[in-house]
Amino acid sequence: MSVILIKNIKILVNAREDYALLKGEALSNLPQINDAYLLIEDDTIVKYGKMYDRSYPTAEPTEVIDATGKVVMPAWCDSHTHIVFDGSREQEFVYKIKGMGYAEIAAKGGGILNSAAKVAAASEQELYTQAKKRLDEIVALGTGAVEIKSGYGLSVESELKMLRVIKKLSENSKVIIRSTFLGAHAIPSLYKENREDYIQLIIEEMLPKIAAEKLADFIDVFCEQGFFTPEETILICNAGKAYGLLPKIHANQLNISGGVQAGVAVNAISVDHLETVSQNEIDCLKNTDTIATLLPNPSLYLRMQYAPARQMLNDGLAIALASDYNPGSSPSGNMNLVVSLACMQMKLLPEEAINAATINGAYAMGIANEVGTISAGKKANLIITKEIPSLTFLPYAFGSNLIDKVMIAGEFIQ
Ligand code: NIG
Ligand code: FE
Repeated sequence: MSVILIKNIKILVNAREDYALLKGEALSNLPQINDAYLLIEDDTIVKYGKMYDRSYPTAEPTEVIDATGKVVMPAWCDSHTHIVFDGSREQEFVYKIKGMGYAEIAAKGGGILNSAAKVAAASEQELYTQAKKRLDEIVALGTGAVEIKSGYGLSVESELKMLRVIKKLSENSKVIIRSTFLGAHAIPSLYKENREDYIQLIIEEMLPKIAAEKLADFIDVFCEQGFFTPEETILICNAGKAYGLLPKIHANQLNISGGVQAGVAVNAISVDHLETVSQNEIDCLKNTDTIATLLPNPSLYLRMQYAPARQMLNDGLAIALASDYNPGSSPSGNMNLVVSLACMQMKLLPEEAINAATINGAYAMGIANEVGTISAGKKANLIITKEIPSLTFLPYAFGSNLIDKVMIAGEFIQ
């Protein structure tokens, strides 16, 4: 058995046994133990406390790590990504610089359909190799659990291909991966004139096959003008639920789309984006367990407004933060940047942003009993920072890589 003792930790962050989905004010409560130790056996957190506690372990560990001056915290839980895609779309980056909007690019056959054409032409192995590289990249940046969506397939064959890539990533990695079926990401060109037929294809052909191969945990729909209506969203989510897939919705990214209301109607685990909301959407989420998953990267990249996070917290909502790593609206999966942006642009306090990117992200993937806090019995998925003056320094010094080591399931990856 491997026994790792991390000692002299300057601040041990989010160590708690009483974890729960954090709503409103509760997000600002981020437990911190100064001058701490943390004991790990194999892949599991065993105990932690103050250095001079009576609980300080006496048995000889296999490895001792001195974290003097460093912060130790749970690895990021990124609950919304699209890291299976082929190539990249930097040409659209230039279109955007020249003034074209996201919806305009999509309407011209760019956007999601552009990626779908590439995915159709790529082999499962090619997609796997590219996605694995992206996964390794985000893990080195401190992500220890990640949700990955399909949605660049848009045909039975290609959606299954993407989901099989996600399954293979999960089998070949110690990172906890959750898979989401996003067949309803866009209407493929072939079905432009008969969208009902595509929705029927999702419900009658894709879903049964995905369920039979156990390829997905969640079902997602891009509920947006020009994509899927709230009625279609509800129909597709209910079909997914019949196969045991929990709904997650792309809601209110570009317009007041009805996506939040559709999400609440189907009891979604999360409604994601929410850049464009009124008080109605916030009221609709009050007193529900549906998590508002906020994605500051696409706001930065598409030069759009940020979700009104402060207003949501004032109204007692549960919020999570995620990267939305994808080729069209967030070509970055760096959760450190996400947390910084949430502080700088959404006015979250560092404590709120860190809770939203760890324990609440874990809830948004249904894995809060495994990761997201430093708790006895949870997976040892950790970030050890470089020497930093305070925890606030982490989001403050945006753009610097302040990570010294990342541990996934009890093993250091770098
Ligand atoms: O979450 N908004 C829809 N889907 C992605 C973007 C997809 C793309 O442009 O390729 C998102 O932002
Ligand atoms: Fe997305």
